[in-house]
Amino acid sequence: MNENALTKQLMTWYAQNGRDLPWRHKGGAHPDPYVVLVSEIMLQQTTVKTVLNYFERFMHRFPTLQSLAEAPIEEVYLYWQGLGYYARARSLYAAAKALFYDYQGHFPDDKAEASKLKGLGAYTLASYLALAFNKPETVVDGNVIRVMSRLYHFTKPVEDMMPEIRKRAEALTDVRHPADYASAIMDLGACVCTPKNPKCNQCPWRESCLSKDLLDVEQIPQKSKIGKKKFEGFVYLISDGKGAVYIRKRVEKGLLSGLYEFPWSEKPMFEKAQDTGVEVSHIFTHIDMRLKIMWLCQQNIKLDGAFVPVADLKNFAFSTLMRKVLQKGGKNLL
Ligand code: ADE
Repeated sequence: MNENALTKQLMTWYAQNGRDLPWRHKGGAHPDPYVVLVSEIMLQQTTVKTVLNYFERFMHRFPTLQSLAEAPIEEVYLYWQGLGYYARARSLYAAAKALFYDYQGHFPDDKAEASKLKGLGAYTLASYLALAFNKPETVVDGNVIRVMSRLYHFTKPVEDMMPEIRKRAEALTDVRHPADYASAIMDLGACVCTPKNPKCNQCPWRESCLSKDLLDVEQIPQKSKIGKKKFEGFVYLISDGKGAVYIRKRVEKGLLSGLYEFPWSEKPMFEKAQDTGVEVSHIFTHIDMRLKIMWLCQQNIKLDGAFVPVADLKNFAFSTLMRKVLQKGGKNLL
């Protein structure tokens, strides 16, 4: 395949079809690297559609690096609430503090320096350098993996093909316009070369793609062989009988750390609790979680949490899973 021709076709397509996104600057590097940092961390493992609802609120509250670096972490969690993968909020916050206090607000444009910032893995490091500084870096996220696998008809499991996928993606990168190229390849994956029902007839690479119109196109890329764990357990809505509900804070480490929750566990925790007959389920990266919602009215709880009036729950950051618990089982508290 002629890589130069493919690159040109993609860039022409992007000029006409690229999305206007609030964090995007078309035609080169974004003038504000803070915008790139916040949006790229939000966009890790999260769709554009979901991020759109969070980004503007977040930027309204934390419009500058300084405003984020000086805010309490609890407030950052509140603005991240529902977006999931809360370790990202902590990393972004740590990066903002480092940039503001240690780097005097100067965003590094050098790979070795930038890689010291929290929250920038290989993908985000590349997208940050390309989008904020127009550095010739190649982004390889789920979209790019799908586009490359289909363009070259790679049918083996993704983990076996990664070096080859990366090599092909690098060969196609427009080194004179890396920022626009990164946005273009992401848009192609998100809008045209979609996981289901790809719009091959709208694709700028339709003449070259080795998977176009093949029956197995939706099966490419071949999913990883690693399965997900299942977790089943119980979650407790505990009322004190006076309009308050029992919550506790998760430790500042691991899954959903730093957020608030209703007590939950794999084994039953309270003999007297009643089954509400309602369940919640939630899919995390490595775990499919399913919890039975239990109800209990009891004032003396020997855990490390506290009773909070139901009306005040909005002031605490909960995970989406716990919001679902409240939504589905909350009527038992009234
Ligand atoms: N996914 C990750 N980064 C993105 C970006 N800047 N635009 C669109 N989708 C993205």
